[in-house]
Parts: sequence; structure tokens; C-alpha cells
Amino acid sequence: TNIAVFASGTGTNLDALLGAIDRGEVEGEVSLLVSDKPSSKAVEKAKTRGIEVLSFQPSDFNGKAAYEQVILGACREHDIEWIVLAGFMRLIGTTLLTPFEGRILNVHPSLLPAFPGKDAVGQAFDEGVEVTGVTVHLVDEGMDTGPILEQQEVRIEAEDTKETVQQRIQKVEHVLYPKVVGELVKGEGKYDKASITERFR
Ligand code: GRF
Repeated sequence: TNIAVFASGTGTNLDALLGAIDRGEVEGEVSLLVSDKPSSKAVEKAKTRGIEVLSFQPSDFNGKAAYEQVILGACREHDIEWIVLAGFMRLIGTTLLTPFEGRILNVHPSLLPAFPGKDAVGQAFDEGVEVTGVTVHLVDEGMDTGPILEQQEVRIEAEDTKETVQQRIQKVEHVLYPKVVGELVKGEGKYDKASITERFR
């Protein structure tokens, strides 16, 4: 099963997925890394691993549809079945959503629908909540609004700083996200194709 990872950050979720693949926990391979930040660590890591990279500057294109058309072409060329967003900070448009309906995943560092968008950990911390967490969800046209697949709680303790919460959340992401990807790729149980399509409606 060919997986495309879209990443423009530090690439720790990319690392986690690659580790799970190496251990045989995900029956697939990362065949393509897409990034809108050519200088990101995620791109560097992918190159080191010999993964094909499509990186681009959105400002070089005449709008979202234009660059997504190029991404779609690369996904087709690599026979991509699943798109795994991991720190790709752009909304996905219809050019990619339509052909990949129900097959684009995202991980978000909060218990959605709480704290969508940027700096979800900071939002939770500033709000003073005692429990936040991690959400893995299917992607739709909204910002962190798609159908939720899995969530895991992370507690915020009195002695925590934003950084310690961030670290705890990332640890959870690195286990939860590859687990869900592995189950989806297998397509068994609650993640068989029919129930995924059902959840997406
Ligand atoms: C993760 O914390 C994820 O929740 C958010 O972007 C971050 C990406 O981190 N969507 P990394 O690049 O995988 O380290």
C-alpha cells in the first residue's frame, strides 16, 4: 500500500510512521513526501530515507487548484492510496479531496472539536483546561472538522509548561497515529472500507 505523507514541520510524525513500517506494524510504505516548505526538517528526513519528495512554494503557483493538480499528478504516478497529513499547515482543496475522499488523514494536538487551528496546545494551556489530547480524523474541506476516528486524552498538571504538555502530546501522537494508519491500511474491523465511507457521510 502506497502512502503519501504531507509534512512541512519537524517530521517527528513522519519518523514515527517510518519506524512503525520498519517494525512491520504498518503494511505499507511511504512512497511520496509532499511539502510546501522545501527547507523543512521533514523534507530533509525524507531525502535521507530515499523517499521521493515533491516540495514546492505555493507562491509560485496561481492558487490552490494549480499546486494541488501537481500533487494529484504525483500521487497518481506513485499509485497512492492514503494521504497522511503530518504538520502540513494548509487546508486541502477539492482538487485533492474529491479523488481522495475518505482517504486523507490528519493528526491534531487537541481533543477536537476543542481548539482547532493553529497552536492547539497553546490554546488549551492558556484556557487552563485539565485535559487535552490528540485526535486522528479524516480530512474534509474545513479546518480540523472531519470525522473523528480516534482520540486520546492527555492531562495537564499544575507544574506543566506549554513545552512539557507539547512533549507529552507528541509522544501520544507518535503511537496513536501510526496505529490508526496501520489499521486503516489493513482495512479490517471498524476500519473496513464500508464503515469508513459511512463515517465520512
Ligand atoms: C503535530 O503536532 C501535529 O499534531 C500537527 O503538526 C505537528 C507536526 O509535527 N498537525 P511533526 O512535524 O510531525 O513533528
